[in-house]
Amino acid sequence: MRVRRARPADIPEIRALIAHYAGEGILLPRDEHDIRRHLDFFLVAADRSGVAGCVSLEVYHPALAEIRSLAVTPAKVGRGLGARLVKTALERAERRRIARVFALTSSPDFFVRLGFEPSTRHSLHEKIDRDCIHCSKARTCQLTALVANLSAANAAFHILDESVEPVPVE
Ligand SMILES: CC(C)(COP(=O)(O)OP(=O)(O)OC[C@H]1O[C@@H](n2cnc3c(N)ncnc32)[C@H](O)[C@@H]1OP(=O)(O)O)[C@@H](O)C(=O)NCCC(=O)NCCS
Repeated sequence: MRVRRARPADIPEIRALIAHYAGEGILLPRDEHDIRRHLDFFLVAADRSGVAGCVSLEVYHPALAEIRSLAVTPAKVGRGLGARLVKTALERAERRRIARVFALTSSPDFFVRLGFEPSTRHSLHEKIDRDCIHCSKARTCQLTALVANLSAANAAFHILDESVEPVPVE
C-alpha cells in the first residue's frame, strides 16, 4: 500500500469513501466536482485493488493548512494507514514551509497521538470565515480543534518574508 498524490482516476473512490463516513455523520460530504477542484490537495493510500484511504491538506495561505476529509475504508482501519496519511500530509506541509496545520475532528485522540495539540476554534478564524459561518451545525458543533505547530523555522520564515510563494510539491 502506497501513499501518493491523488489522480483524476481516484475521484470516484475518494467520493465514495468520504460519502460512507458522511452517511454516518462523521465527515462532511464532498461531491465529485468539489473533489476534482481540490484534487491537488488530496493524498491517497492505494494499491492495485484501489483506494483504501484519503486525506486532503487544504492550504489557506502560505502559513496555514487544514487536514480534511481523512478516511480509511472500514476493511482497512487499524493497520496504520490513517497515521501514514496524516504523517505524509504533515511532511508535505513541512516542504511547503507551512507553519501550522489544524484539524477539526471527532477523533481528537487520534490526532494527539500524531503530535497535534488541542486548540480553540476561535483561533482558526480562517476556517470560521470560510466554512463554519455557512454550516447549519455551527451552533451545536461538537468537533474539537487541534493544531500541529510545525518547525519554528517555518513560522520565522513567514514573519521574515510575508510575500513568500508556496513551494511546489513533489
Ligand atoms: C480515524 C481513522 C482515519 C483512523 O485510521 P486508522 O488507519 O484506523 O488509524 P491507524 O491504524 O493509523 O491508528 C494510529 C493510532 O491511532 C489510534 N486510533 C485510531 N483511530 C482512533 C480514534 N478514532 N481515536 C483515537 N485513537 C485512534 C490507533 O489505535 C493507533 O494507535 P497506536 O499507534 O498506539 O497503535 C479511521 O478510523 C477513519 O477513517 N475513521 C472515520 C473517519 C474519521 O473519523 N476521520 C477523522 C476525522 S477528520
